[in-house]
Amino acid sequence: MHPTFAPPNTAAIPIWFVQESDLVQHLAALPQAISRQAEFAGFKARPGQHMLAYDAAGAPHLVLFGLDQPGRKRDAFLPGRLPELLPPGTYAFANAPDDTGLAALAWLLGTYRFTRYKERAAAIPRLCAPGGVDAAALERQAAACFLARDLINTPANDMTPSALEDAARTLARAHGAHVAVILGDELLAQNFPLIHAVGRAAHQPPRLVDMTWGHHDAPKVTLVGKGVCFDTGGLNIKPDAGMLLMKKDMGGAAAALAAASLIMTQGCDVRLRLLLPIVENAIAGPAFRPGDIYPSRKGLSVEIGNTDAEGRLILADALALADEESPALLLDFATLTGAARVALGPDVPPFYTHDEALAADIASTGASINDPVWRLPLWHAYDRLLEGKISDLNNVTPGGFAGSITAALFLNRFVENCRSFVHFDIFGWTPTARPGRPEGGECQAARLVADVVAQRFGIAAAKQLS
Ligand code: BES
Ligand code: MN
Ligand code: ZN
Repeated sequence: MHPTFAPPNTAAIPIWFVQESDLVQHLAALPQAISRQAEFAGFKARPGQHMLAYDAAGAPHLVLFGLDQPGRKRDAFLPGRLPELLPPGTYAFANAPDDTGLAALAWLLGTYRFTRYKERAAAIPRLCAPGGVDAAALERQAAACFLARDLINTPANDMTPSALEDAARTLARAHGAHVAVILGDELLAQNFPLIHAVGRAAHQPPRLVDMTWGHHDAPKVTLVGKGVCFDTGGLNIKPDAGMLLMKKDMGGAAAALAAASLIMTQGCDVRLRLLLPIVENAIAGPAFRPGDIYPSRKGLSVEIGNTDAEGRLILADALALADEESPALLLDFATLTGAARVALGPDVPPFYTHDEALAADIASTGASINDPVWRLPLWHAYDRLLEGKISDLNNVTPGGFAGSITAALFLNRFVENCRSFVHFDIFGWTPTARPGRPEGGECQAARLVADVVAQRFGIAAAKQLS
């Protein structure tokens, strides 16, 4: 499904955004037949409330939709409810909501359904591209989010390591990017011991996808995404409730693919690299075990305190590789810890960086485009908790306090050379539907990262012309 706006259409049904305080005034300006319908239906313009009013001939005449009062912290995606509420038809914004671009994006995002295994029942309402917004850019953003959602929603029996690799290859093909894949035992030969250890018990071999795009002398931006196609927990097996959603454990890879797709379609003036360590954390004879000690690409030895802390292991080797060419900016996305959810809930992924200016840019961009994130500290006093007794590092800390922070500190040990490193501990899932965010897989922090990359490095002149 490709999210698009309808072409301009004078017959489109107008949608009026109304606030409770303006309702009386608003109704007075409408034909009496319409305002009486609103009164009779009990339309109070409460935030998210809607009403479809009909003309005397019984044809849809207009839609009223309640918005929150200004000054309150609004959900800029509230209009993302409309495609769910309205019958199929063609609609157009009649007045401007707070942020027309975000409202239009929310509409597109709200039309998403996962239809791979069950067709959607009805046609969907369509919105004419509002004036004054870059409709094509919004469609690209929605398409990138849809890609990530589809990848996450696809269960592990179909979203296998090779299927996730194929998704990267498909994206690369669409943008003329180059892909190299290191597969199975070749990971050992090329010194990725941790990716191999985590993925070696699975039916499909572990792999590292390495995609590059752009001019080789442009600033280097590298994205890394956790691609655990299913996380059983390994021999430290997860209980049933904890395992149920673990098809989403490749949500970091999905977000990284979405961000890469946006960076490439925008034509950012960067040499982009996308590294996806892809594994299934499976249970079988060759599974890695608690107490095992492995070397890592960086040279640090790592004792396995818990096979369920597998994401940081595969990321460690991928980040070490990324760091070897000292990129200007290195970012990773990972469904890394349950602790991040305990701290901030499913909506707000924490991020970690030492770069103060970049942290400020990330926070403000995320807020302005409604891709919310919140900075947590790389609290180095906790580094000692990761020290191994008979190895350089342990992959878990005793006790598990500050679990998202200590996971971020673990990753930090594998990054030395690059100027700026950011880690996003995302959830990748919407547990109960919200405006513009249907229940299921969610693309987090990708739009924000693509925006920050565009702000920092600009758009290549050649691409701008096309
Ligand atoms: N993929 C999980 C983290 C996760 C769990 C994300 C639930 C979102 C929702 C990760 O591999 C994991 O199992 N982490 C452990 C780490 C622990 C063993 C130190 C966790 O968070 O419990
Ligand atoms: Mn795990
Ligand atoms: Zn995991």
